Amino acid sequence: MNDGEFQAYLAEVKGKVEKEFPAIVSGLSSPKTLIESMNYSLTAGGKRIRPLLIFATLRAFGKEEEIGIPAACAVEMIHTYSLIHDDLPSMDDDDLRRGKPTNHKVFGEAMAILAGDALLTNSFQVLAQARHPDVSDSMKLRLVIELSKAAGAEGMVGGQVADMEGEQKKLSLEELEYIHKNKTGKLLSFCVKAGAILADAPEAQMEQLSEFSTHLGLAFQIRDDILDIEGNEEQLGKPVGSDTENEKTTYPALLGMEAAKEKLRFHIEKAKQCLRNANIQHEILEKICTYIEKRNS
Ligand code: IPE
Ligand code: IPE
Ligand code: MG
Ligand code: MG
Ligand code: MG
Repeated sequence: MNDGEFQAYLAEVKGKVEKEFPAIVSGLSSPKTLIESMNYSLTAGGKRIRPLLIFATLRAFGKEEEIGIPAACAVEMIHTYSLIHDDLPSMDDDDLRRGKPTNHKVFGEAMAILAGDALLTNSFQVLAQARHPDVSDSMKLRLVIELSKAAGAEGMVGGQVADMEGEQKKLSLEELEYIHKNKTGKLLSFCVKAGAILADAPEAQMEQLSEFSTHLGLAFQIRDDILDIEGNEEQLGKPVGSDTENEKTTYPALLGMEAAKEKLRFHIEKAKQCLRNANIQHEILEKICTYIEKRNS
């Protein structure tokens, strides 16, 4: 797969997931403002890297992507909720997301909180309602358990709490790694695991992929930290300098920019090594590693 083909694949993934959103959100019989607020953030764009990981993992096991669509939608709903809440004045207090004013800037804080709540809750409905002959009830149950773990107190929310509590403090590398692994890594790892569960992958390959996704998740957030300093607001679709303003400990803040970039390269290389050991068709997953290492948006 060359770069052009990879770009085309990215666009195909986006299309497959975004095509499902109108039926998920607009079909709800709920107050109009709530639907508008949910829809606003969900359809605002974004790289859809989490669905990409689910689909690419399925492909690595020779399975069709259609199997992963409900899980892909569910995880984008949870991710979008996490972004809405992350931008709130009581959290990172940011005004721009996915190239548009943040949800609370348009709909107000109360509605932004509630739209996030609804996206989170309904994501599990989307996941559990999956209908595909190759998706068994026991697979769905495993997905529900894994997604709750990845998104909840032992995952994304736990990481966000540690991130907030770490503001204006000098953290150790170990503490910072905990934050990154949890606030960002666990949801990305869920996506790889979801692909493997849906592909009915053997335990040994699950373990290799789990190690792969831990490195990839860390790399993803290290790149995010770097872009908060070196990135371009227009390309990123979110403000640059937010971490500095909030006095967060980030990889560049703690280690310096060059060492942060070295850590990024290290985790990407480790992730690629895990892929090579996993004995799967890893071509697209490997392309995703490079994409995450070099991304500017
Ligand atoms: C941003 O995630 C928040 C982090 C976990 C770093 P993404 O960079 O995947 O955001 P979108 O979905 O493309 O907007
Ligand atoms: C947030 O990390 C991770 C989430 C769980 C949303 P950041 O606060 O660094 O994400 P951005 O930079 O605002 O997208
Ligand atoms: Mg944050
Ligand atoms: Mg933020
Ligand atoms: Mg950031």
